[in-house]
Amino acid sequence: MGVGACSPKPTPYEWQIPPGFPAPNVPEDNPMTVEKVTLGEKLFNDVRLSVNEQQSCASCHLKSFAFSDPKKVSIGTTGEALARNSMALVNVAYNGSFTWAHNGLGSLEKQILIPLFNEEPIEMGVSGFETEILARLEEYEDEFALAFDNAEVDFDNIVKALASYVRSLTSFNSDFDRYAYFNDDSALSESAIRGMDLFFSEKLECFHCHGGFNFTQSSKHAFQKLDLVSFHNTGLYNEDEKGSYANGDQGLADITFNDAHRGKFRAPTLRNIELSAPYMHDGSVATLSEVIDIYAAGGRGDGINNPLKSPFVQGFDITEEEKQDLINFLTSLTDESFVE
Ligand code: HEC
Ligand code: HEC
Repeated sequence: MGVGACSPKPTPYEWQIPPGFPAPNVPEDNPMTVEKVTLGEKLFNDVRLSVNEQQSCASCHLKSFAFSDPKKVSIGTTGEALARNSMALVNVAYNGSFTWAHNGLGSLEKQILIPLFNEEPIEMGVSGFETEILARLEEYEDEFALAFDNAEVDFDNIVKALASYVRSLTSFNSDFDRYAYFNDDSALSESAIRGMDLFFSEKLECFHCHGGFNFTQSSKHAFQKLDLVSFHNTGLYNEDEKGSYANGDQGLADITFNDAHRGKFRAPTLRNIELSAPYMHDGSVATLSEVIDIYAAGGRGDGINNPLKSPFVQGFDITEEEKQDLINFLTSLTDESFVE
């Protein structure tokens, strides 16, 4: 068609990433451009992308909650409850894996197909209504032409634009960042520094699973030579003494059909964790204080004796003051500028 030849050259996207951090992952067939990120942001917030025009991506990924959902589990556009708590979208561009427990979603572009096309449960309900939904988006024609050589308003380009926008959601401006990376010794209180020391201690072991600059193991970037995609059972449930989790959600085992993977989930990033309550894959923990109590006990209820529990979740003694220190550290990971 030769549209590309006469369309203006796309503007390369400039990452909001401080010096010293590695470059995020960008697939070769979807380079970052300002035009795609701008279009992606509009689509992310546009309810016309759902079958009944009730929900956008932003309905379950609210900016003020670090792009997560304050509901325990999210509700899809036609009212069906999802099995899981919506995830915060923070530095997702570095993810080595996507969602709470999946080892086969190699890219954000693949992951984004799930909320769009999932039928059980319905999230945005696009399946079967593709033509109708694309017709609603005709007014973006010019913007698709600026963003894509082929200028098509189609789901391939919609997904590419959405992925570009989600990649642009980077967060490196917390008090912790100022302290740890930008040499501002006064950015953390003494209590938060004590909490940080606890977090990185062999007593609490948090850093084993929430490691690196994103506080998650499942990262992929130039500084991480090993492609770590790890999933852990942290002892939240033990329904049958054999390690099963509750509500029919067995985490990684539901993907691999390997019984030993029951209850294994990804350790998510802890950046902006203060904003993304409730916690865990099913939103079953309301506060950071309760999260710490669970780790201190070595799990929750019968989950403490879950035979598949990670050896790093053994439990530990912690005083009230230490607990407050740890909470102060975790809340120092909040980046106010990210949610403004
Ligand atoms: C009905 C609520 C809902 C809608 C609508 C929704 N999401 Fe999600 N999102 C979730 C839930 C729940 C998860 C966790 C899924 C899981 O673990 O199985 C998730 C996970 C994600 C992740 C994975 C993050 C990570 O770190 O692995 C990304 C990215 C994402 N959503 C982007 C989007 C985009 C883009 C849209 C719009 C096309 C969207 N979501 C629409 C609820 C929703
Ligand atoms: C064995 C690995 C492991 C260790 C050790 C560990 N975590 Fe986790 N963490 C996880 C996994 C996996 C999840 C998600 C579990 C789930 O949803 O079932 C998680 C979830 C969390 C969450 C909730 C995240 C969210 O977005 O909902 C917080 C907060 C948290 N951990 C903090 C800590 C702290 C603090 C420590 C140290 C006391 C710690 N973790 C130790 C693996 C670990």
